[in-house]
Amino acid sequence: MAESMKGLKRTCRCAELTKANVGQEVTIMGWVQKSRNKGGIVFVDVRDRSGIIQCIFEESDCGAEAFEKATKLHAEFVVAVTGNLEPRSGAVNENLATGDIEVRANAIRILAESETPPFPVEENSKTKEELRLKYRFLDLRRPDLQRNMMLRSKVANVTRAFLDEEGFLEIETPILNKSTPEGARDYLVPSRVHPGSFYALPQSPQLFKQLLMCSGYDRYYQVAKCFRDEDLRADRQPEFTQIDMEFSFVDEDDVIDTNERLLKRLFKEVMDMDIQIPFQRLTWQEAMDRFGSDKPDTRFGMELTDITEVVKGCGFGVFTGAIENGGSVRGINASGLGNMPRKKIDKLVDFAKDFGAKGLAYMSINEDGTFKSSFAKFMTEEELDSIVKAMDGKPGDLLLFAADKNKVVWDVLGNLRLEIARQNEMLDKNVYNFLWVTEFPLLEFNEDLGRYQAMHHPFTMPMEEDLDLIDTDPGKVRARAYDIVLNGTELGGGSVRIHQNDIQEKMFECLGFTKEAAYDQFGFLLDAFKYGVPPHAGLAYGLDRMVMLMAKEDSIRDVIAFPKTKDASCLLTDAPNVVDESQLEELGIEIKNNDQEVN
Ligand code: AMO
Ligand code: AMP
Repeated sequence: MAESMKGLKRTCRCAELTKANVGQEVTIMGWVQKSRNKGGIVFVDVRDRSGIIQCIFEESDCGAEAFEKATKLHAEFVVAVTGNLEPRSGAVNENLATGDIEVRANAIRILAESETPPFPVEENSKTKEELRLKYRFLDLRRPDLQRNMMLRSKVANVTRAFLDEEGFLEIETPILNKSTPEGARDYLVPSRVHPGSFYALPQSPQLFKQLLMCSGYDRYYQVAKCFRDEDLRADRQPEFTQIDMEFSFVDEDDVIDTNERLLKRLFKEVMDMDIQIPFQRLTWQEAMDRFGSDKPDTRFGMELTDITEVVKGCGFGVFTGAIENGGSVRGINASGLGNMPRKKIDKLVDFAKDFGAKGLAYMSINEDGTFKSSFAKFMTEEELDSIVKAMDGKPGDLLLFAADKNKVVWDVLGNLRLEIARQNEMLDKNVYNFLWVTEFPLLEFNEDLGRYQAMHHPFTMPMEEDLDLIDTDPGKVRARAYDIVLNGTELGGGSVRIHQNDIQEKMFECLGFTKEAAYDQFGFLLDAFKYGVPPHAGLAYGLDRMVMLMAKEDSIRDVIAFPKTKDASCLLTDAPNVVDESQLEELGIEIKNNDQEVN
């Protein structure tokens, strides 16, 4: 039977107690981790979010009734234990922060009983994620998740304190918005008052933060919920949180400087780590050429080498064909992996094909300097030697090559580089390599739409020296955009915004918007720009991703209290769900096909 806590006050959390408290009477409250009945003595480990403390019950201290209660405890019962803090009577437990002390109990109340939980509440759970998500309220009791949530709270708090000191105002922007295509798919919310009309949930507060700059707020930030209906991966959720900011009267160096200091402060206060600033800056072109990725992981080498010039006139049609089609041939040197078995190389070829490669040419250099290669038969000795030289190949190395359009070659080798690093444990989670990627292309050509699309968003400022190219060679225009990358993950991104009407109009034209269409979509922003818009720039981090990397977790779900699964559902609440017919009627919505009918 659950008892009341009337008249009792918790004195502190379990693991806040140390040897310095020995001799004090304490009352702790928490969940029973485990209880062991050793005849005349019952040991009970009590857990709260700070950790665990051992309580020891003997009838001579606590009386018969309390002793009897202690013998009846099970895992996850909620208890209040009062007693004297003493040094451990038995052996010190080195694995526990409170391993050298214990509470000699003189009273206990059972505040709530618990059914046997579907899985044990313990660190490093081996329980399947599906079950953990179904019982998320229990999963969230586990110490690793509790640490992640505490870390997350601290990151948000330190960020707020820092930005407040730097003169930023925290301002909320609306959740029910106008849908503006471009970017990911919107989540739509039907309007009851305006049947047939829909709100869209924000993919980011982008337009509103730019309006706030027009309104003179100067420096804005928000810990903002964002919604994107896109395919989910380990570092993507349909609903996620940004640390979003915007500044007036600044350029990219100001944004970068403020954010380097913010990250330095965060890593010091949250992780007790000193990170060196300023961070390295790579242009997008350099990032692609060296790492095949616009979010390079620089914790290991294996950089790409362009051997197009070296193999230009060679006898291997795969290479020369790609070059003739305007592509390139590039390779990576998986140093020391020359004795990789054929089967494993074939797996890498399959992996490369998943990223669009037509094949993967390889060459392993034997210890005696001879080669094993998928293309040696098409080449002369000299041609092979010059490839090895260009790749800085040594006996024992494995060289891998892709030949195709640049985009494919980068994607294939960039991902292959990461895969080989993963397989060979070259990714040290204790190393934090930050860098900025700058000078992104402003536009990318969307083959499906048959037109250019903004790589970032349509309000990103082109680089001044490239302005003329907008009319002649739009794909070559670079943007004043920057991404902050940590260990191969895009932590955040932003840009200097367009604040001149003529440039904005040109940009819309380039994106295939008529003036009317641009006004229809973004008229409110364009209007605001007519009444005195300050030069402005900003950036947004993915808070979840940041915490994921700080917590050294592989999945974003482990740093979100109530995450969605890969198919965007919540196993705890069963969202999304079918709603009442009357609710639909009120909204004027009729469901055309449900899943069963479609199949
Ligand atoms: P962007 O679209 O690059 O920029 O988003 C900023 C950061 O948000 C995080 N992020 C996500 N995190 C988890 N799940 C997702 N589905 C997801 N999508 C994005 C990433 C990303 O770097 N308004 C601009 C910012 C600006 O220009 O100021 C924007 O939203 O870490
Ligand atoms: P093939 O002549 O098709 O047998 O190819 C010879 C070798 O070149 C094989 O190892 C293929 O995997 C590889 N290969 C084929 N296409 C490409 C490509 N686009 N880039 C790199 N290697 C390729």
